[in-house]
Amino acid sequence: MNNNKFLVTSAFPYSNGPIHLGHILENIQADIWVRYKKMNKENIYFICSDDSHGTPIMLKSKKLKINTLYYIKKMYFNHKNNFKKFSIDHDNYYLTHSSENKRVISNIFNILKNKNLIIEKKINQLFDDNNKIFLPDRFIIGSCPKCLTKNQYGDLCEYCGYKYNCIDLINPKSIISNSNLIIKETNHLFFNLPVFKNNLIFWINSINLQKSVLNKIHNCIDLGLNMWDISRDYPYFGFKIPNYNNKFFYVWIDALVGYISTFNNLYKFNNNIIENYWSINSNSKIYQFIGKDIIYFHLLLWPSILEGINFKKPDKIIVHGHLKINGNKMSKSNNNFISVEKYLEYLDSDLLRYYFSSKLSNNIEDINFDITNFVNKINSDIINKILNLASRNFKILETNFNSVLSNKIDDNIYNYFISKSNIIFNLYEKFEFNKIINNIIKLSNLANKYISDNKPWDFIINKKKKSHIICSTGLNLFKIIITYLKPIIPKISSYSEELLGIKLNLYNLDKPIKSFHRINKFILKFKKININYVNKIFN
Ligand code: MSP
Ligand code: ZN
Repeated sequence: MNNNKFLVTSAFPYSNGPIHLGHILENIQADIWVRYKKMNKENIYFICSDDSHGTPIMLKSKKLKINTLYYIKKMYFNHKNNFKKFSIDHDNYYLTHSSENKRVISNIFNILKNKNLIIEKKINQLFDDNNKIFLPDRFIIGSCPKCLTKNQYGDLCEYCGYKYNCIDLINPKSIISNSNLIIKETNHLFFNLPVFKNNLIFWINSINLQKSVLNKIHNCIDLGLNMWDISRDYPYFGFKIPNYNNKFFYVWIDALVGYISTFNNLYKFNNNIIENYWSINSNSKIYQFIGKDIIYFHLLLWPSILEGINFKKPDKIIVHGHLKINGNKMSKSNNNFISVEKYLEYLDSDLLRYYFSSKLSNNIEDINFDITNFVNKINSDIINKILNLASRNFKILETNFNSVLSNKIDDNIYNYFISKSNIIFNLYEKFEFNKIINNIIKLSNLANKYISDNKPWDFIINKKKKSHIICSTGLNLFKIIITYLKPIIPKISSYSEELLGIKLNLYNLDKPIKSFHRINKFILKFKKININYVNKIFN
């Protein structure tokens, strides 16, 4: 038992789309780490939430002719359930449209305002006069002011890469009404980000960021920090800004603050506990898992807000790359978008948890879900190696030894397997899950070779005692392998626990099961998968 306390978060999926395998990648990465810590009896909470606000969500519900509140609640329950089905063990999965979040964002805003960190400025924005709404960049299309390429969004040109202000687009049109947009002046509230520059530089150098992330963020700072626009005008789906007429908090600020309120919801505002995690002197650790597309928000804006309200900043931000499917960006137009629900119609969640682990390490390279490679890996590793080790030993023990283990096992190979525990647990600590899988496969090969070389099925005829020892050893090697893999494949682990008749944990890892122990009848629950079948997830 140790005294570390952790709060772990994964980024909040937007309400207006299904949970897909990209979200799952991130949550699997976080969940594995959390399960490992929990297995080690560390004090750790894992939270996430739906990100319920913003114009796209409002417009989507309008388009579907569903009341926005009803829509986000429905999506919230669906998302929460999807994560559960993937064995993502959030201690709290909440939504940002909550009374807790409203209270926290209002308090934070007042503190920042009293410290003169909020500035009011007039700005020009594009207005859809037909729908009487200011539009976000992704709902605006026009020609690039630099290279004149048509059909570019309001923030940057996909063709030449030029970043501009939407009002500089040539012939800007509204995506929702296809009408021309007009420029309209409006008052907005800005968070004074530039004053935090030195603080930020100190902090990002102190938290042991992945190298490429550190470089990216230094580049952003070198390009110059701007005031951050945190308000939006009516009509908007979000929280009203206290004491301002028809002004709403921009979705991103209440989403970030949602990390605090989601934790508050878990503890019902128990101030002692919350203080323990967020106060500046707290020795608990905050670890946040995010994708590389939202670095800017989590490494510049979020720590500055926390600094502004005198809260503790995260101790670690773990950034992952994007999930690609068969080498391409996952998207509906590529016909390779996979939602959780579609995946689970065909396959077990543990198979993907295992496959993603074999690709996940502490870097931000994109991760490719190659279907052929996936099928081969599952069949070769999980079915032919790991579960085969179980099935061959279970069967001999069942047929010849009444499912009771021997009183002695082969210490040499057993101790070798146990000696790998430090390496494997250290790899969990460092998020190097791909290396864990490599180690596990080496161990599975060794264990299977040990059985094949010793041929316990031959011994049964004349040297029954020896073959009893061999299979009992084989079964104990399987027990060690599954204990090592438990954070990665929780369903296969609990299936194995049922077969072995024992709960697997770190405390009984080096205690072999012997003659006192009776195992259960082997039932095959996981079978080889077939590429044609797996390809049906694209239908
Ligand atoms: N709502 C914001 C996050 C607010 S956090 C206070 C958001 N939502 S998102 O749904 O677009 O993405 C949520 C998380 O999933 C992000 O960390 C994002 O990087 C990750 N992913 C979304 N698509 C992904 C892939 N295709 N691959 C891997 N991760 C991806 O951003
Ligand atoms: Zn251009």
